[in-house]
Amino acid sequence: MSPRVRLSELDTLGGVETEALVGRPPNGPLSAPGPTTPIGYRGTPLQRFCVRVLNYVTNYIVAHVPSFTLRHLWYRRVLGIGLGRDAGVYMGAYVWFFGPGQIRRDGVWIGRNTRINRNCTLDARSGLTIGDNVSISPEVMILAGSHNVNDKRFVQVPGPIAIEDHVWIGARATILPGVTLGRGSVIAAGSVVTKDVPPLTIVAGVPARPVGTRDPGGAQYTLDEPLPLFE
Ligand SMILES: CC(C)(COP(=O)(O)OP(=O)(O)OC[C@H]1O[C@@H](n2cnc3c(N)ncnc32)[C@H](O)[C@@H]1OP(=O)(O)O)[C@@H](O)C(=O)NCCC(=O)NCCS
Repeated sequence: MSPRVRLSELDTLGGVETEALVGRPPNGPLSAPGPTTPIGYRGTPLQRFCVRVLNYVTNYIVAHVPSFTLRHLWYRRVLGIGLGRDAGVYMGAYVWFFGPGQIRRDGVWIGRNTRINRNCTLDARSGLTIGDNVSISPEVMILAGSHNVNDKRFVQVPGPIAIEDHVWIGARATILPGVTLGRGSVIAAGSVVTKDVPPLTIVAGVPARPVGTRDPGGAQYTLDEPLPLFE
């Protein structure tokens, strides 16, 4: 995936999402930089109300509109998510956010030809970078925030996530905050990933542990099949 291509694509979206690319050297591995201070809803009661309404419309109405074009338009223009060419976010996605301003600040990027299958949770609370040709199976949970269990106020803490090119995440896997999934790695169905996964490594189980490696030649495809109707 070329950051240069992405930057030019993002410029057409108003340029605000370029922060999503900060910290990623050209042709280098994704990094998951992001805020280290507690996260949460901020603003006046009116602003918080508006964010809740936006949340409802995004996740309970727009996410169920049977058109990739309309959903993607909303994700790009209203939320400020960067979506690469021919990426597809299927129906039923739950985007977890504190408001479009926070998404733009911390950065959310979904790369070219990447497929996010039905009913996935995309946590955009502290930064989420997904590379090109990534395949995310149904009902995967990507969690980019947690709580400090020893804090008196139980504050929420950020944990930005980076998923590099050609990663495959099996159905119902959970990716915990702060994790980077290396290029071409495979996450078995139902796994819970608690630590970074090296490139081309297959992990499985709870917590996920290496169970194999992937042939480097197997992680060079382009996910360019047309997006299906009504999904
Ligand atoms: C990751 C996956 C591709 C691994 O397949 P594989 O390379 O053929 O691996 P194997 O079946 O040889 O399993 C290797 C080991 O990992 C274990 N394992 C495989 N998948 C596992 C899973 N989901 N959870 C826990 N352990 C798993 C196996 O039990 C085996 O352990 P053992 O050596 O102790 O017997 C496959 O198990 C998987 O999860 N596919 C995802 C399916 C899916 O989500 N489909 C929807 C989208 S199309």
